Amino acid sequence: MAARNARMVVDKDFRIGKVDDRIYGSFIEHLGRAIYRGIYEPDHPEADEQGFRKDVLELVRRLRVPIVRYPGGNFVSGYNWEDGVGPREKRPRRLELAWKSIETNEIGLNEFVDWARKANSQVMLAVNLGTRGVDEARNLVEYCNHPAGTYWSDLRRSHGYEQPHNIKVWCLGNEMDGPWQIGHKTAQEYGRLAAETARVMKMVDPTIELVVCGSSGTGMRTFPEWEATVLEHTYELVDYISLHTYYGNPENDTANFLAKTMDMDRFIRTVVATCDYVKAKKHSKKTIYLSHDEWNVWFHSHEGDRKVKPWQVAPPLLEDIYTMEDALTVGAMIITLLKHADRVKIACLAQLVNVIAPIMTEKGGKAWAQTICYPFMHASLYGRGFVLQPVVNCPVYDTKDFTDVPVVESVAVANEETGALTIFAVNRDLADVVLLECDVRSFEGYRVVEHIVLEHEDIKATNTATNPFNVVPHSNGNARADGGRITATLPRLSWNVIRLQKA
Ligand code: AHR
Repeated sequence: MAARNARMVVDKDFRIGKVDDRIYGSFIEHLGRAIYRGIYEPDHPEADEQGFRKDVLELVRRLRVPIVRYPGGNFVSGYNWEDGVGPREKRPRRLELAWKSIETNEIGLNEFVDWARKANSQVMLAVNLGTRGVDEARNLVEYCNHPAGTYWSDLRRSHGYEQPHNIKVWCLGNEMDGPWQIGHKTAQEYGRLAAETARVMKMVDPTIELVVCGSSGTGMRTFPEWEATVLEHTYELVDYISLHTYYGNPENDTANFLAKTMDMDRFIRTVVATCDYVKAKKHSKKTIYLSHDEWNVWFHSHEGDRKVKPWQVAPPLLEDIYTMEDALTVGAMIITLLKHADRVKIACLAQLVNVIAPIMTEKGGKAWAQTICYPFMHASLYGRGFVLQPVVNCPVYDTKDFTDVPVVESVAVANEETGALTIFAVNRDLADVVLLECDVRSFEGYRVVEHIVLEHEDIKATNTATNPFNVVPHSNGNARADGGRITATLPRLSWNVIRLQKA
């Protein structure tokens, strides 16, 4: 085996920015088996008094997800939120057009708020700007956040929720640039509607924060003119602009697949530049931050989904079974988000349960962690604090779509409160180990607590109901600290977490 070398310098004072905990957010949509038979399965042996699966809640709590986006996704663009509140027996069954399913409305806003509380998460709520608009959005904010004494707040109280939900972060629709979206709009049309909706929502509750829709991906024909036009209308009224990114490996080209974070990095940089261009144009003092509120690997289920019979309740849709290489791409995506901690303040792994998810469930049976669960969990547990600017010197390679792809993708996070320093690193090399040498002179007296490694001899290995612990991390990595220098072997195609603490 030929070893390759990577050199990295990490300095306490070279900070990119503080990690906003909400970058470890996730997303649950009324889609497939995410809600029904995912988080909610009243006849399951693990169901609690509200029908929520306790085993699923336990797995979600382990991920420490601070915020969960809800109820969509494409779903929200045809959703009447009023269908999901009040007495269950009166809730309508509806044709759900985004995913060609039947929505029973058994779970709605209030139940989801209860679930999120049990998961130790906040709700990030999306309003429908596809088929609806200003009026629905203002009523929803009043229903959720106004204490009492008005029609909508008293309706909430009559539904058994005396205290307001105090939902802080709101999405102004979903992927409105996408021709697939119900009520799809041009940037001009959406920009105007988003601005008027934002103004009225903030009249009802001036403390809320708003996310305006950016592009659904770098491949959109309208990117990045969409962002410029939408911000032209909304700049002073919103706080964040959204980005969505999904990658796949349908051509089975691992080297190229693992390099796709170069595209994500470019996406983030371009959106930052566009925000700042509008800022300059408007001579504004305000900075717009980024909400990368959908990101993941998504491609395994595309073909199967085309065969799913329409108009079923909770059909198995978007049930990607993730491989070891998907976990590496997810790990590299997390590192990319961290490297932009100064501007990316919210990010949602899409999604959380059963639908392109780190957590899978069987009807009446087990719940288990997919491969991608691990990098996400490690980052959420150990990646809080200040992101340090990584200076990495390592071999690079070229692929079908990218040039100069670094073999090692890496970043470090220092936590002043706990005194922890954590290095996250992906070795993209298909064949060789990389010997990492990291200069940490500014962290005097630090020792390695643990070197966690996620690896598998089979890059296509998965975790399934019958073999749920096939791809799991181990703590047998060989990282050592000596005189302000860390050395570690990064196995080929591996995700590494090197945890240090002052001795
Ligand atoms: O997360 C699945 C879907 O992907 C969402 O509904 C939509 O917003 C995106 O296209």
